[in-house]
Amino acid sequence: MWAEKDVEKVLVTEEQIEEKAKELGKQITEDYLRMNSAPLLVALLRGSVPFFSELAKNIDLDIEYDFMDVSSYVGRHSSGEIRILKDLDTSVRDKDVLLVEDIVDTGKTIQSVIELLYHRGARSVKIVTLLDKPSGRVNHLHADYIGFEVGNEFVVGFGMDFNQKYRCLPFIGVLKPECYQTKE
Ligand code: IMP
Repeated sequence: MWAEKDVEKVLVTEEQIEEKAKELGKQITEDYLRMNSAPLLVALLRGSVPFFSELAKNIDLDIEYDFMDVSSYVGRHSSGEIRILKDLDTSVRDKDVLLVEDIVDTGKTIQSVIELLYHRGARSVKIVTLLDKPSGRVNHLHADYIGFEVGNEFVVGFGMDFNQKYRCLPFIGVLKPECYQTKE
């Protein structure tokens, strides 16, 4: 595999992600059935796409989905400044929105999106994230559905990148330190 030389360790395997997506899909199905609702899934580009695809097929509800691209990162660091690069095509007014994220780190990105969607009239906004990095949090944000918790390390794969690379790795891993040093 081309990236083998760059990967220090694998944190979560493809099989573990598939299994987790099934669990989360089942739980989401049950919760929204209880609410008598089907959520509008909003996937945040580009990192959440592989997880979104894995999750969506495991939600047994008449869901719709849309995409939004919001950026706050330069290299490995959150700039704290949110830019909308691609907006939703769908109205969220009176909808139950389920935001799909790859990883919640500082929480700033998702918090800004939540505020925006409520401002636009969403009935509810919940979060499902493949990874949670609670050590990075600078606010009180809690995701409603979490796949795996990771420590204070920068991860790549299954949608997550370092300078746009490694998104297509089928697992989640940590790169060797020299990969960050030479390319940032
Ligand atoms: P937050 O606003 O700091 O929570 O940033 C969330 C976004 O930053 C995620 O959707 C990712 O795109 C990116 N991000 C945060 N931590 C990592 C990481 O460890 N690897 C890759 N991307 C990350």
